[in-house]
Amino acid sequence: MANSINPFLPKIGTVLKVVQETPNIKSFQVVLNDQERMKSFRFEPGQAAQLSIFGVGEATFVINSPPTRMEYLQFSVMQAGEVTERIHQLKEGNPIGVRGPLGNWFPYEDMKGKDIYFIGGGIGMAPLRTLLLFMLDNRKDYGEITLLYGARSPQDLCYKEEVKEWEARDDMELILTVDREFPEWDKRVGLVPNVLKELAPSPQNKVAITCGPPIMIRFTLQALAELGFKDDQVITTLERRMKCGIGLCGRCNIGTKYVCIDGPVFSLAQLKELPPEL
Ligand SMILES: Cc1cc2nc3c(=O)[nH]c(=O)nc-3n(C[C@H](O)[C@H](O)[C@H](O)COP(=O)(O)OP(=O)(O)OC[C@H]3O[C@@H](n4cnc5c(N)ncnc54)[C@H](O)[C@@H]3O)c2cc1C
Ligand code: FES
Repeated sequence: MANSINPFLPKIGTVLKVVQETPNIKSFQVVLNDQERMKSFRFEPGQAAQLSIFGVGEATFVINSPPTRMEYLQFSVMQAGEVTERIHQLKEGNPIGVRGPLGNWFPYEDMKGKDIYFIGGGIGMAPLRTLLLFMLDNRKDYGEITLLYGARSPQDLCYKEEVKEWEARDDMELILTVDREFPEWDKRVGLVPNVLKELAPSPQNKVAITCGPPIMIRFTLQALAELGFKDDQVITTLERRMKCGIGLCGRCNIGTKYVCIDGPVFSLAQLKELPPEL
């Protein structure tokens, strides 16, 4: 098969810019070295890629810049273990491997004309950022857009510059919360699912999209059910440890599904047909 491309072979990229988002999260803006490949690189909001540090290993990250802004691909990386520690050491100009796009994506076509309620926690804001920016770039296709975004403390909020822009926009609503009181914080205080219950959005013509730590997602799903959201109005993304990313190794399976090809995006209705995950 002389023409087949090895799916395990990363494309070589270069780090354009590094942004320190929080004490343990950095964003990396990456371009593929082959300009033609960069121009023809296609992905959908919600898809991920494996980033590799040569000689160390790969880890999965959502592409959190939208396909409507292709100057670079952005990844936000929370330091967790060896690979992420080495990614955090990268400087502008350093090489990095990119293998993707991987997985499915948010069903944004089905959401046209609906009100969108994003609920994010911590680094879980990364996939939501992609879809939010994509929708803001196609603003007329969607109804009201609301983002409820929470972190442990003010310094743990990602995308601080953009958060200011989102706050200033009159075509979306932003609600920020942190887990407890801080002297410099004059906005909401409380865990994301509790704030959601206080805000009590109506489920009428709405889609809720949530991503965050598993415990946040679990209580957010409960809160949405209490508010009357039906299972097919709720979308979430799952983080399962991956290896191949292309449905071959079986590392990421839940029941009959592979998170790397059937996910990471699932509706709550789809998740309820699988063995319990959250
Ligand atoms: C579809 C998808 C999208 C993701 N997007 C992002 C993203 O945008 N930003 C980001 O920071 N992370 C993201 N992750 C998680 C990221 O892949 C892991 O945190 C990363 O692989 C850890 O790499 P490591 O080798 O440094 O850590 P390791 O040394 O392998 O692990 C460190 C610790 O984290 C735990 N861990 C590692 N990977 C996972 C995982 N996937 N799920 C749960 N626990 C894990 C390990 O059990 C261990 O306790 C995503 C994962 C998936 C599957
Ligand atoms: S990561 Fe190998 S099958 Fe999903």
